[in-house]
Amino acid sequence: GKVRVPTHIISTISDERGVEQRYAGVPMSTLVEQGYGVGDVVSLLWFKRTLPRYCSRFIEICIMMCADHGPCASGAHNSIVTARAGKDLISCLVSRLLTIGPRFGGAIDDAARYFKDAYDRGLPPSEFVEGMKIKGIRVLGMGHRVKRGDNRDKRVELLQRYARENFPSVEYMEYAVQVETYTLSKANNLILNIDGVIGSLFLDLLDGTGMFTKQEIDEIVEIGYLNGLFVLARSIGLIGHTFDQKRMKQSLYRHPWEDVLYTK
Ligand code: ACO
Ligand code: LMR
Repeated sequence: GKVRVPTHIISTISDERGVEQRYAGVPMSTLVEQGYGVGDVVSLLWFKRTLPRYCSRFIEICIMMCADHGPCASGAHNSIVTARAGKDLISCLVSRLLTIGPRFGGAIDDAARYFKDAYDRGLPPSEFVEGMKIKGIRVLGMGHRVKRGDNRDKRVELLQRYARENFPSVEYMEYAVQVETYTLSKANNLILNIDGVIGSLFLDLLDGTGMFTKQEIDEIVEIGYLNGLFVLARSIGLIGHTFDQKRMKQSLYRHPWEDVLYTK
C-alpha cells in the first residue's frame, strides 16, 4: 500500500490549494456571497467554526472599539515617534505593538483567566480582590489612567449593553461588574476597563454558544487567544497614526526639556 511521508507542518485552519481558497472549509465564494464579515473570518481562522451572527458581530464591535484611543494612549506615541524618525510602516507598527502587555491592551487573557477561576469557584468578589492583593497581583481588567467611576469608559458600556441584549447569558461579565463595585469602593480609578469587559464577555460568548466543549474553552483561555483581538484592532489605529504623521510631514520628534525632571 501507499506510505504517507510525514509532513514538516500540520495546518488546520486554511487551504489555498485548488481553484478556491478556504477558511476552515468555507470557500471564498461563500464568504462573499453570503455576506460574511471580518468577525466571521476571525471565527473561522481562530476558532475554526462559523459562530452565530451575534458572536461575530460582537467580535467586530470589539475590533471597532479597540481600533484607536487617541494619540496619547501608550503605543500610539511610539508609532508617532517612529514615523517622525522617518521609519517605514512596519517599523512604526511593530514599535507600537511591543507596548501591548499586562498593563495596556494585553490584560484580556489574564482578566479572563482570573475571572473564570474566581467565578467558577464561587468566590465572592471581595474575597477575590483581597486574595489578589495578598498575592501582590493587580486585578487584571480593572483600572484606567484617565477613566473614573464618575467618568466611565463609553466603550465598556456599549459592549455591556450589546451583550446584555444579545447573549444568552452574561454571568461572567456580571461577576466582573460585582468585582468593579468592590474595587470602586476602594479607589475611583478602579473601573472595569475595556480589557476586563472583553475578557469576561468572551467567557460568556464561548460558554453561551454551546459550540465549545469545556476543554476547548479552557484551552482558548490557557493559550491566550483574546489579547489577539486587541492586537488586531489596535493595528488599525496605529497604521492610521503612522500615515497621519507622514501625510503631515512631521519632523523628527524630540521630547521638550521642560517636561523632564533632570535630577541626581
Ligand atoms: N488592581 C489593584 N490595584 C490597582 C489596580 C488594579 N487593577 N490598578 C491600580 N491599582 C493601584 C496600584 O497598586 C496603586 O496603588 P499603590 O500606589 O498603593 O501601589 C494605585 O492603584 C495607582 O496605581 P497606578 O499604577 O498609578 O495606576 P495607573 O493609573 O497607572 O494604572 C493601569 C492604570 C495600568 C491600567 C492599572 O490600573 C492596572 O495595572 N490595571 C490592571 C491591568 C489592566 O487591566 N490593564 C488594561 C487597561 S485598559 C487598556 O489598556 C486598553
Ligand atoms: C486604550 O484603549 O488605549 C486605553 O483604554 C488606554 C488609554 O490609556 O487610553
